[in-house]
Amino acid sequence: MVKISSAHSRAETAPVLDYQSGFGNEFATEALPGALPVGQNSPQRAPYGLYAEQLSGTAFTAPRHANRRSWLYRIRPAAMHPPFRRIGNGRLVSRFGDGPTPPDQLRWDPLPLPDHPTDFLDGLVTMAGNGDPAAQTGCGLHLYAANASMTNRFFYSADGEMVILPQQGRLRLATELGVLEVEPQEIAVIPRGMRFRVELPDGPSRGYVCENYGALFRLPDLGPIGANGLANPRDFLTPVAAYEDREGRFELVAKFMGNLWSTEIGHSPLDVVAWHGNYAPYKYDLRRFNTIGSISYDHPDPSIFLVLQSPSDTPGVDNIDFVIFPPRWLAMENSFRPPWYHRNFASEFMGLIHGRYDAKEDGFLPGGASLHNCMSGHGPDADTFEKASKADTSTPQRIGDTMAFMFETRAVLHPTRHALETAQLQPDYYRCWQGLKKNFDPAVR
Ligand SMILES: [Fe+2]
Repeated sequence: MVKISSAHSRAETAPVLDYQSGFGNEFATEALPGALPVGQNSPQRAPYGLYAEQLSGTAFTAPRHANRRSWLYRIRPAAMHPPFRRIGNGRLVSRFGDGPTPPDQLRWDPLPLPDHPTDFLDGLVTMAGNGDPAAQTGCGLHLYAANASMTNRFFYSADGEMVILPQQGRLRLATELGVLEVEPQEIAVIPRGMRFRVELPDGPSRGYVCENYGALFRLPDLGPIGANGLANPRDFLTPVAAYEDREGRFELVAKFMGNLWSTEIGHSPLDVVAWHGNYAPYKYDLRRFNTIGSISYDHPDPSIFLVLQSPSDTPGVDNIDFVIFPPRWLAMENSFRPPWYHRNFASEFMGLIHGRYDAKEDGFLPGGASLHNCMSGHGPDADTFEKASKADTSTPQRIGDTMAFMFETRAVLHPTRHALETAQLQPDYYRCWQGLKKNFDPAVR
């Protein structure tokens, strides 16, 4: 069905926000009536004098269920720009593992808000990553802290899709395919290659970004859970078409093979009047996650909280798993209810968007981050162990005020030099386990 929308904008007029629901759906949307060609993708002349352009997010021959592409009907094609020139990469890193990667548990305080005008792009700082954009595997994990909207500046990453998690302040993401507004506890996903601008309606803003170099994030299969549960497809929202017909001096910044490149263009690249297809930005409210857990005993593995997965070439071993720890009830009887101590094959980068995290009640702050790499031992701190091992488990316990998340990766995450040298690194993090008492007594079972 073609959705007719009057959400186009001209010059400074803000488009009306409207969304289409579903994950990876074949959407069709037009900001002017009849702007979408009927029955074919590339007619000899597209309506309204628009140019037809395909944006492919997967290989042409990808299986149908995994194939993603959209057809864009736009005022000027994306090819229309002078050559790019290299600019500094700021604090963005896309090559990992040049220096030593410590096996220590690492944790950081929140990134301070900037004291001089800084937009989203300039406010990005890479904390860790793995793989390689050229090999189309791995990810970059970034924080952002910004206080200025992008106005005449646009950005795209050819290196990967970007999962953006605001922690403080809403983001208004004006993209080629329409406008997304996200607030803390929502996420936005901007596809690889999509041009966009980030505005900060609340001023100073902070959050997290996962740049996924590998296969597109998708909803996991549900196996014995059945047809419903975890993140439900209808809660994923994609914008309707909204275009800008603006001319002037604009900067377009590309992230390509780990470096930033800039060019000047004479028009807004957000000039797509109509589009159809299944390669599009989307948002999701993490509070809509249908959380599933044990109702008998024991603490399930975090894969029970899987929102999105980026598969690798090995079945069952993901390039990235995105999991969340939302408000929930813990009902496991005769069980240690927080996660037990563990060392994993996977590497875990965590953040906290809201409230407190139940395995670390102090020190892990909203806006902060932690990294527990492959086989690095971790788990509840000494205080949490004391409380949880003595808690009454005959009644359920509500964890009400929290929203933590984790990007769990197949390959080891290499912290960047910034991450290892920043003043936000907590040098005493390891101490949270040093107070664990020796309780062993061979005489008492
Ligand atoms: Fe863990």
